[in-house]
Amino acid sequence: MSSHHWIKIFDNEQALHNNIPLGKATSFVIKGNKICIAHSTNGVFAVADRCPHNGASLSQGFCTEKDEIVCPMHRYPFDLKTGRTTSGLSMNVLTYPIQIKENGVFIGIKAKWWEV
Ligand code: FES
Repeated sequence: MSSHHWIKIFDNEQALHNNIPLGKATSFVIKGNKICIAHSTNGVFAVADRCPHNGASLSQGFCTEKDEIVCPMHRYPFDLKTGRTTSGLSMNVLTYPIQIKENGVFIGIKAKWWEV
C-alpha cells in the first residue's frame, strides 16, 4: 500500500497563481526531489523537473492549451495529467498529485517503504 507525505507549497491558490503565471512553471526541491509545478489551462500539475529525453529542466519550458509541458531543449511535449510523452519520442515523466485545500496547496510525495 502506498501513502504520501503531503507538503505545503503555497498558503492558498491565489499565492500559487501570483507566483506561477498561466502557461508557466517553476521548480521546487521537495524531500530531495526536483519537481516542476506547472500552471496550465485546466489547473496546476506537478511532474519531475528532469526531461526524460535528455535531462533538461521542464520548469524552464511552457504549457500548451492541451495541458502539456513543452521541454525547453528539444520541445518534446508531455501530458501534465499522466506524464505521458505525447510526441512518442521519449520516455514518460513521473507525475506527483496536487491537492488544493482551504489551508493551502499541497504536493504528495510517495512515502518510502520504511516510512510507511
Ligand atoms: S531534453 Fe527535453 S526534449 Fe530533449
